[in-house]
Amino acid sequence: MKTIYKRRSIRQYTDKKISIGDLEKLLKAGMNAPSAHNQKPYDFIVVTDKATLKKLSETGPYCSMLENAAAAIVVVSVADKETTPYWQADCGAVVENILLEATDLGIGSCWIGEYPVLEKSEKVKRILEVPTNYQVFATISLGYPLKEKQENDNYYPEKVHIGRF
Ligand SMILES: Cc1cc2nc3c(=O)[nH]c(=O)nc-3n(C[C@H](O)[C@H](O)[C@H](O)COP(=O)(O)O)c2cc1C
Repeated sequence: MKTIYKRRSIRQYTDKKISIGDLEKLLKAGMNAPSAHNQKPYDFIVVTDKATLKKLSETGPYCSMLENAAAAIVVVSVADKETTPYWQADCGAVVENILLEATDLGIGSCWIGEYPVLEKSEKVKRILEVPTNYQVFATISLGYPLKEKQENDNYYPEKVHIGRF
């Protein structure tokens, strides 16, 4: 629970780079998420090049933080309705695992939604040369936090139904 509460969307970063070792830990966290039929229907694109991060920051209205990010991990999927019908749930679990591991490593992160906003995700696809049969599920912006944010502590009893709805 400590890491879950501590995880917040961090959108302002220092200039500090993220080590290759830590980027690898984030990818491992993602790859250890549960997936339907253990299909793991995803690939990752790791971006640290500043010019590419700037281009990604211009793909939509809510991703400007990428311009100052140390790195981004972009989660993509073949997203086949027939063979991987749970691809969105699978990729969501991957993203959350990465956010939690980032928090544990002291790295700030923010989930940037892509699919199903095709107007945005198609731009990301072109910038990163993602094959046309893939969908871009999400971009994770990463960097060391410029300032601390208050921890979450959410609980909504009205959302809980015991025994039946
Ligand atoms: C599917 C999804 C898409 C999101 N897309 C964006 C986004 O495009 N840009 C952004 O700044 N935050 C995005 N967020 C982060 C949410 O705004 C954030 O999680 C929410 O406001 C709660 O704040 P917290 O993460 O600090 O607890 C997204 C989160 C999810 C789960």
